Amino acid sequence: MTSTLAVVTGAGSGIGRAIAHGLAEEGRLVACLDINRDGAAETVAAIEAQGGQARAFYVDIADTESVAAVSREVQDQCGSPWVLVNNAGWNQIQPFLQTSSDFWKKILDINLLGTVAMSFHFANQMVEQGNGGRIVNISSDSGRVGSSGESVYSGAKGGVIGFTKGLARELIRHKITSNCVSPGPTNTPLMQTAPPKLAEALNRAIPARRLAEPADIMQAVRFFASESNGYITGQTLSVSGGLTMA
Ligand SMILES: NC(=O)c1ccc[n+]([C@@H]2O[C@H](COP(=O)([O-])OP(=O)(O)OC[C@H]3O[C@@H](n4cnc5c(N)ncnc54)[C@H](O)[C@@H]3O)[C@@H](O)[C@H]2O)c1
Repeated sequence: MTSTLAVVTGAGSGIGRAIAHGLAEEGRLVACLDINRDGAAETVAAIEAQGGQARAFYVDIADTESVAAVSREVQDQCGSPWVLVNNAGWNQIQPFLQTSSDFWKKILDINLLGTVAMSFHFANQMVEQGNGGRIVNISSDSGRVGSSGESVYSGAKGGVIGFTKGLARELIRHKITSNCVSPGPTNTPLMQTAPPKLAEALNRAIPARRLAEPADIMQAVRFFASESNGYITGQTLSVSGGLTMA
């Protein structure tokens, strides 16, 4: 029988929390991974209050030892996943010429290498389990078209798209698909760190005339994570109200 376990990183806030709810609503047990223990615990409590099943786990995806440790913990407590959603990410808007090498490293460690490390450990579990699976990586439209004040982040998210395509080619022989969801500007705590004028300007620029809500992104994740979508792999789907048509 196919495992119903879904592992979601960054499930303690914003888009990751909505994804965890969406997968739990479909009857999956959701492992909610986050560096923010309280946030992950709140997501679990909310899912359980609605009759779903979830467990909270601590991870710092920028630390490869922490990723290895959580992969063992999740397997011991919940088994191997059938769905992995690499959602956790981080950014700060800053003109590139004012950034530092510590900042570049942090951006790449979390957004790109965190996704790589998580995929390494959990894809190995999926292959050992032998039932196929789904990997969905959350990129960003900045990784498709670039974004001012987010040059290094755009590079990291573009890297996520290339990594997802490589994985797609290597893993489809194991019936594991690998796809990207690429959000446009989305109404989450991360977006709320941006200057207020930016949100106003985006509301005018987005053809749908509003930011995405986390639930809009979740719908695209559920599409790629669906058991009936075994032949779509290596693809990137923008969810941006028409802002980006890359
Ligand atoms: N909000 C947007 O406008 C937007 C647009 C495009 C892409 N994205 C991407 O969507 C994803 C989710 O972003 P969000 O807007 O929900 O942000 P958020 O800040 O609300 O949530 C991100 C979550 O990731 C967790 N996290 C951060 N660093 C971590 C680490 N090292 N290890 C484990 N967990 C960590 C945080 O604790 C938080 O719970 C990110 O990959 C982000 O880059 C967001």
